[in-house]
Amino acid sequence: MEVIIQPNQEAAADLVARVVARELRANPHLVLGLATGRTMERVYQRLVQKHREQKLDFSLCTTFNLDEYVGLPSSDPNSYRHYMDDHLFRHVNIDLRNTHLPNGVAEDLDRECELYEKAILRFGGIDLQLLGIGKAGHIGFNEPLSALRSRTRVKALTPVTLAQNAALFGGQKKMPRRAITMGVGTILESRRCILLATGAEKADILARAIEGPISGMVSATALQLHPHCTVVVDEAAAAKLTEVDYYRWIFENEPEWREFRLLKRPAGSDPMPEK
Ligand code: GLP
Repeated sequence: MEVIIQPNQEAAADLVARVVARELRANPHLVLGLATGRTMERVYQRLVQKHREQKLDFSLCTTFNLDEYVGLPSSDPNSYRHYMDDHLFRHVNIDLRNTHLPNGVAEDLDRECELYEKAILRFGGIDLQLLGIGKAGHIGFNEPLSALRSRTRVKALTPVTLAQNAALFGGQKKMPRRAITMGVGTILESRRCILLATGAEKADILARAIEGPISGMVSATALQLHPHCTVVVDEAAAAKLTEVDYYRWIFENEPEWREFRLLKRPAGSDPMPEK
């Protein structure tokens, strides 16, 4: 895992969008795993901008979203299909037939979950999975007690998650209590993961996710098992991390991140901090 700390949420979203754009240019047939939530809106804004201004081409790529609420048809403004149409799909040249979200109104939800897993496999697996983190430490909707090897399934939402998202529904009573979500095991099979977290309200859970012990109670900790996971945060979300000097040194010195650095320091002026 690597942790990249950016000065603010704009810079953090910018970096994530640039990584996605780079991967998509390198492989136009990219299979992209997508996330929803307020944090991701800034990433999608930038991808739309790159499509308009730099002709970033989505025509050959395939997408799989992490999750969808049970009981919401795609026409519902609170469905994640609606969110994706609104924030990305409608504004870029993606072929909608190549965009996938679980069907939250499927008659047989277990069958729907099985088919979703099969579809991911049929496209050769996910190349790059975008992730946010919920206040309860979930990735997708893998709430506490999610098995670390879980597959796509229906999960009941915790009170913390209901409270976090209730405003969008005009109150908790109107919010679905369950969602279909890719499992932790499904997410861990993606070739690369990028988790974006910004804002002070994510600082505690982020520290637990990155530096705490791996536990099914905080599904984001499972990312510590992933061979290629990048966590991008702003200063506010990084506030409770302990090894920030180490993380900063890696970002500022590793060749992979050269093109993403904001400030270049003169060579030799940036020694590895002593612990
Ligand atoms: C929902 C989604 C998660 C997302 C989380 C973060 O719970 N299912 O995938 O990570 O929201 O939301 P926000 O970015 O609004 O904090």
